[in-house]
Amino acid sequence: MNPDNNNTASKTMSDDKSASGIDRRTFLQASTLGAMAAAGAAPAIAQSRAARPVVISSGNGFIHTNGGTETCVEKAFRRITEGVDVLEALVEGVNIVELDPADTSVGYGGLPDALGRVTLDSCCMHGPLKRAGGVAALQGVRTPSNVAKAVADLTDHHLLVSQGAQDFARQMGFEIEDDLNSERSRERFMEWRRRIDPAHYPDPNRQARLSPEALQNFSRQSLAVAEEMAAEGLIDPEHLYGTINCNGVNGAGDVCGVTTTSGLAWKIPGRVGDSPILGAGLYVHNDVGAAGSTGRGEANLYNLASFFVVEELRRGAGPKDAGMAALRRVWENTESRLLNEDREPSFNLNFYVLAKDGRHAGVAFYGSNSNGSQRTYAVCDENGGRHEPIEGLVG
Ligand code: GLY
Repeated sequence: MNPDNNNTASKTMSDDKSASGIDRRTFLQASTLGAMAAAGAAPAIAQSRAARPVVISSGNGFIHTNGGTETCVEKAFRRITEGVDVLEALVEGVNIVELDPADTSVGYGGLPDALGRVTLDSCCMHGPLKRAGGVAALQGVRTPSNVAKAVADLTDHHLLVSQGAQDFARQMGFEIEDDLNSERSRERFMEWRRRIDPAHYPDPNRQARLSPEALQNFSRQSLAVAEEMAAEGLIDPEHLYGTINCNGVNGAGDVCGVTTTSGLAWKIPGRVGDSPILGAGLYVHNDVGAAGSTGRGEANLYNLASFFVVEELRRGAGPKDAGMAALRRVWENTESRLLNEDREPSFNLNFYVLAKDGRHAGVAFYGSNSNGSQRTYAVCDENGGRHEPIEGLVG
């Protein structure tokens, strides 16, 4: 049996926690509140109207099964239609991708930072309960989405980082592992090191130490090397910035979302992107819908673009137009060094947009890959799981 395979998140947590890491009492409270909201009985929670249940995600949500039979969007949709709380269902879905080492952009086996450490970011939002939680630069927990949900469910805070996030996870009963590299992510890291610092590494006789100057140099070169490795098929181009965003709505109109990532491959240690930041990697408003992002996190962080998308939905735009408006805003706010000779973005950024009534869209600067193949996002509804095309603003 492949030790990398583990189709449940529960192995990483103590037995007295649900798969979400939430304790039973709080889970029951949250479930009861959700049920009351659906019945219109809880004045503190926004009234929901009937909707068409749908789950959408980045394309990797309809690829990986971690040795099981369901993908992220299929599992999340099934659990929603079984009556499970929407955020609980979405987190169960993204757990499949976090735990699958075949996806080197998320969770266990994500591509590490410049020192070879896998550091993970995630956030989640629960529309009807108006709860949110996130973790950034978390090491040692395979499923950071569960820790983000525990922050939302069990604390008065919205974001825990680094050692504090790990300490919290340990206190909540999550298993903390020394190293989340898989064989694949470790091999890719070694190849990156060999290319970026061929004079020193890997050479067991040299014991080279990384100086701050060397790290700065690495960061300048690392994207070029990563792009070279992607062109050679050594890493998936979609995994340079990685990430899965997954948003869902149930029949009662409860909207939730979750985003989880290992972030930029071989980043400067300490770098955090958009994924754990509310309004950037994810935004949810239960009266309107949800939006989340993958791609170049810095472009999104500068604009808090998922919040922008949801505000566009609120102003009456459809999901595609709302996402395109955010892309235009990001483009306007892009430094010249990041524009190509045609003044177009030299990077990609994607938004996955779900309206409360179940309409959805996937948009990006570029809807096709450099080889011309159509890029896609994942959907699951009453017609089953599938990929649908991402619409490109530029190409
Ligand atoms: N969008 C993921 C990141 O930039 O970290």
